[in-house]
Amino acid sequence: MHVTVRVPAKVNLQLAVGPLREDGYHDLVNVFHAVSLYDEVTAAEPGDPGDSGGPIRVMVRGEGAAEIPTDDGNLAVRAAQALARSAGRSYRADLVIDKAIPVAGGMAGGSADAAGALVACNELWGLGLPAEDLMEIAADIGSDVPFALLGGTAVGTGRGERLTPLETTGVFHWVFALADGGLSTPEVYGECDRLRAAAGHGTPQPVASEPLLAALREGDAEGLGRVLRNDLQPAALSLRPSLARTLRAGRELGSLGAIVSGSGPTCAFLAGSQAHATDLAAALTKETGICRSAVTAFGPVLPSEAVLHRTTAESSTRGRPCDADER
Ligand code: C5P
Repeated sequence: MHVTVRVPAKVNLQLAVGPLREDGYHDLVNVFHAVSLYDEVTAAEPGDPGDSGGPIRVMVRGEGAAEIPTDDGNLAVRAAQALARSAGRSYRADLVIDKAIPVAGGMAGGSADAAGALVACNELWGLGLPAEDLMEIAADIGSDVPFALLGGTAVGTGRGERLTPLETTGVFHWVFALADGGLSTPEVYGECDRLRAAAGHGTPQPVASEPLLAALREGDAEGLGRVLRNDLQPAALSLRPSLARTLRAGRELGSLGAIVSGSGPTCAFLAGSQAHATDLAAALTKETGICRSAVTAFGPVLPSEAVLHRTTAESSTRGRPCDADER
C-alpha cells in the first residue's frame, strides 16, 4: 500500500521574537499562514522486508533534493521513527518526498515533510492516532511541525508550537521570490540575538499585533500588507544583504506588503488578486539579480484541501480530499 499526503508551506505574517530562553529557544508570537505551495510525502511498505537500511528509509526528489539529508537527520524520518516508538512497535516504511517547497527557504518545508510523514505513516500502519496525539509527537520534532499538521492561519506561542487557530476572511494572494541557497534557522536566530546585543536595548516579550489580527478577520489585504512584520528580517538581511534589493523591487513593483519569510531567504510579497500576483511574479523575474525564480500561491489552505491518495493492490483513489474515514 502507498499513502500520499500533500503538505503546505507556511509564511509568517507576524514573527515576534522574545528574549533567548535557557533552553536555547526564543518565546515567540508567530502568526503562521499555510499557502498553496506543497510537498508530497508518500509512505509505502518496503518492497523487500529483508532489504538493508534502517526500518525507515527516505528518498527525496525535486529541486534542492541533493541538499536534504536522507539519514536520521531528515525530519520526516525522525517523525516516522517517533510515531513508531509511540506505537511501541518497530514499523517499517519507505518514504518518498517530492519537493516543491524551497529547501532551507524559511517556509518550513522540512517541518511540512515531517507532518506529512506523521499523517502518511499513521495511515499506512493503521494506527488511527487522533490529531492531538500527532500534534504532541510533532512538537517534539520541531517548533513548526504542529502548524504543518493544522494548516489555515494560526498564532503560535511558546516556541511556536502552542497553536490557536485564527479567524480569517477570504483568500490572500502571494508571490514568493526564491533565492539561491538557503539560510540556517539557528544561525538566523543567533544573528538576531547578536544584533540585539550590539544595539544594547532589551528585548520585550512578544505580543500579537491587533491591526494584523483585524486585517485577517476582515480579509483586508491592503491593511495586512501594511502590518506584516518579521523580527528575524534584520538578521536575515545581515546574513544575506542581497535580500534588501529583492524586497525593494517587490515594493517598487506595487506589492501590498514585502517581508522575509521566516528565517529566509525566501521573500514574500502580498498581492491584491491572483492577476496582480502573476504580474508581480513575472516582473520580479524579468530583471536579473532580484531572485532565482518567483512562484505564486494563495492562503490560507486547510488540511482538508490536502490530497491524500492511497493505493492498495485492490484499490486506487487519487486526488480525493482527506476525509474522516481515510484518516
Ligand atoms: O524547533 P526547531 O528545531 O525547528 O528549531 C530550529 C532552531 O531554531 C532551534 O535550534 C533554535 O536555534 C531556533 N529557534 C529558536 N526559537 C524558537 C524556534 C526555533 O531559537 N522559538
